[in-house]
Amino acid sequence: MLNLLKNWKNNNQPQASDMESYTKEDVLNGHVPEHIAIIMDGNGRWAKKRALPRVAGHHEGMKVVKNTTRIANQLGVKILTLYAFSTENWKRPKFEVDFLMKLPEEFLSTYLPELVEENVQVRIIGDRTGLPDHTLRAIEKAVIDTKNNTGMVLNFALNYGGRKEIIRAVKSIAEQTKNGDIEIDEIDEELFSSYLMTESLQDPDLLIRTSGEIRLSNFMLWQIAYSEFVFTDVLWPDFKDSHFLQAVGEYQRRARRYGGV
Ligand code: FPP
Repeated sequence: MLNLLKNWKNNNQPQASDMESYTKEDVLNGHVPEHIAIIMDGNGRWAKKRALPRVAGHHEGMKVVKNTTRIANQLGVKILTLYAFSTENWKRPKFEVDFLMKLPEEFLSTYLPELVEENVQVRIIGDRTGLPDHTLRAIEKAVIDTKNNTGMVLNFALNYGGRKEIIRAVKSIAEQTKNGDIEIDEIDEELFSSYLMTESLQDPDLLIRTSGEIRLSNFMLWQIAYSEFVFTDVLWPDFKDSHFLQAVGEYQRRARRYGGV
């Protein structure tokens, strides 16, 4: 009975105490999640621990975006969605917001040729209208320059909020229903998904959040209905390939049942 309870408690899920470390080869022997979404958190705390300004953490975080894109691409991940700026992040001090809005330019000015070379397609989800021109220009150039690439989609969530995305989809469907372009009976999960900013992109298989916070912060609320979640205490600027492999390895140890048995 005691064993039964113990098994029930552990539910065969990996516990912090039995975490293994995974190599690239280990992970490539299993099913690699096709869509990985990441809430990159902990930049401010990383900087604070070093008595640096918060923006130093964001800058370091940008370098980790480069490494993570590389390793995800090497593993054959099809879509990597990164939460770079939420609709709530405008509440931060102007200096920090301005800094964050310059990061896509800096990232793309040094890294776009490699993305093109590596056959990566850059995409963006979020409200473009709220972004400064210089940020939008840099992202749109990258989207255009990589639009014929057929490899991994690097999808930046920028000025993105899950609830706003859902409201926008509802309004659009309501409008088209009113016009007679959509019948009410046609509205199903597939149609609704196609009205989200992710459009035809498949839902994330794995959601990773760094920095020890266990919440979703308005990220892809519809799309992560059946995703596996991996939360790690590692702060985003400290997130190494080994942590990425660990998260994928943990995903591979879980059985996804989609509500079945
Ligand atoms: C959350 O950490 C992080 C952000 C709001 C910004 C994330 C942006 C990057 C990692 C760089 C993006 C790079 C490109 C190329 C777009 P936080 O500041 O909330 O950290 P804290 O919780 O420790 O304060």
